[in-house]
Amino acid sequence: MNYRHAFHAGNFADVLKHVVLALCVEHLKRKDKPFAFIDTHAGIGVYDLTSDAARRSPEWREGLGRVLGAVMPDDAGRALKPWLDVVAAMNAGKAEPERYPGSPEMAVRLMRPQDRIHLCELHEADAKTLDKRYALHARVKVEQRDGYKALKALLPPREKRGLVLIDPPYEARDEFVRLAEAAMSGLERWPSGTFVFWRPMKDLWSLDRFDEGLAEWLVTERDVEPSAILRADMWVRDLQSEGKLAGAGIVIINPPHTLEADLLALMPWLCEVLKQGDGAGWRLDGIVTEEMAASWAG
Ligand SMILES: C[S@@+](CC[C@H](N)C(=O)[O-])C[C@H]1O[C@@H](n2cnc3c(N)ncnc32)[C@H](O)[C@@H]1O
Repeated sequence: MNYRHAFHAGNFADVLKHVVLALCVEHLKRKDKPFAFIDTHAGIGVYDLTSDAARRSPEWREGLGRVLGAVMPDDAGRALKPWLDVVAAMNAGKAEPERYPGSPEMAVRLMRPQDRIHLCELHEADAKTLDKRYALHARVKVEQRDGYKALKALLPPREKRGLVLIDPPYEARDEFVRLAEAAMSGLERWPSGTFVFWRPMKDLWSLDRFDEGLAEWLVTERDVEPSAILRADMWVRDLQSEGKLAGAGIVIINPPHTLEADLLALMPWLCEVLKQGDGAGWRLDGIVTEEMAASWAG
């Protein structure tokens, strides 16, 4: 377990993931009924952008930093607002951001007293940091545990409403296999839950197999409407380029009905602001094409 999110906090991939997370949480808050947020790979909650790790690898400057420095059109600004409000509240009075909210902190700051947050983090020291940070928050439970295994016990949540984020580090060779297994067993247990799966655009063959395999299983085996599947990916330079991560994104099952329109307003602008070289781009689609649907039907 060598992966340290502190080196990447606030980068372009975090921006897209956390903006989506914040929009999903805001949508769930439209009803008074409580809901649950389950984060299977939680990290440490808050990232210090002045730390040694962030200074050595200041990826946030090409992510959060660029967004803060850009002039945003109203519709993009509306989509960014829940996420940006949290970042601003954590950095009030600072000329430059010093703290960045990971997924747990985003949830803690946006969710209400009646809602519940369950965080799993396998790394011993990180789980301790997380546990200490939220010790006084009665509605937050932290477990030092394999998030994939925990899901079996956690789903469906008693609230019957909510969101699961699966955001692994992709250190293990079989991460996509584990992700697919978790996706299928999670969705079998809780077909109406909103699931967000983060994936890097690195091993594109495994990425396509995960996306298309999950979509095929949902549509053909679980009778899920293709409209319940949404994919949002962004690449800041040519995906074949060497070096650092060039692209990443999410697959969302049962997205809020407003999410696609929000992302359509945001992604062209965001990609322009975050691009780092030739070949940058984005896609927002439902994975399932007409050809795929026809071949599955045949
Ligand atoms: C990409 S980071 C999570 C970032 C966090 N979700 C956020 O958005 O702020 C992945 C985390 O998963 C942890 N981890 C790795 N394998 C795990 C597992 N099987 N179960 C739970 N946590 C795991 C790592 O220690 C790391 O902190």
